[in-house]
Amino acid sequence: MKRLMIAANWKMNKTVAEAAAYIKDLGPRLAGWDRVEVVICPPFTCLAYLSDALKHTELQLGAQNLFWEPKGAFTGEISAEMLLDMGCRYVIIGHSERRQMMGESDQDINRKLGSAGGAGLIPIFCVGETLPEREDSQTRNVVQRQLEQGLAGLDLQELVIAYEPVWAIGTGLNASPADAQDTCKYIRDCLGRHRDESWAAAVPILYGGSVTALNIQSFVEQPDINGALVGGASLDPEHFARIVRLNMDA
Ligand code: 13P
Repeated sequence: MKRLMIAANWKMNKTVAEAAAYIKDLGPRLAGWDRVEVVICPPFTCLAYLSDALKHTELQLGAQNLFWEPKGAFTGEISAEMLLDMGCRYVIIGHSERRQMMGESDQDINRKLGSAGGAGLIPIFCVGETLPEREDSQTRNVVQRQLEQGLAGLDLQELVIAYEPVWAIGTGLNASPADAQDTCKYIRDCLGRHRDESWAAAVPILYGGSVTALNIQSFVEQPDINGALVGGASLDPEHFARIVRLNMDA
């Protein structure tokens, strides 16, 4: 049975008190369920609290961003070393919201991936096409460019890819499981060319974009999809637990 990962991207949601209530609710709902590695990616302001609260659980901690320099005069930024210091194992890099709203380029993302890998964090590297790109049949070209430029010159041992079609994020629209599988297989082929096939075969590839308890099973049963990166539906512990349990209690 393939190993699965489900990561919660809380985006800019939850205070520390809300995070505390969430974890208290989620913990018992996941008791005894070990088929899936679960990663919680809260805002920076919840990391210190969660690093302590998750210490004696199986849940892993991830951040949503970092800056590539180790330290210095970079007002408002957070380094890989600081995230490690907070107990993070993972960090989301290259999310489409950051590409679109904060103007992150493939070159910025390349520096961030290098800095995360160099510090021993595992990047969750997001790629995906916009709606006009999809309608123009550019999906493969876009993800190939994002992968090539993002990974250029890097030799990351550990990496997670999240394939998130931008038009499916927060819209209630999904890629069909077959389309998502097709692109995830293509991503794995690109990773094989970047390094080698056995490494590429071991890289978890997550699908993201309006994942819910009702559709999670249809994605994870695809051969090249190893789990999901979940936004909106991860904010409610009851719903998120159903996703992590692959809706199999229903
Ligand atoms: P939604 O699950 O809200 O569509 O968000 C997906 C996402 O952007 C996860 O990173």
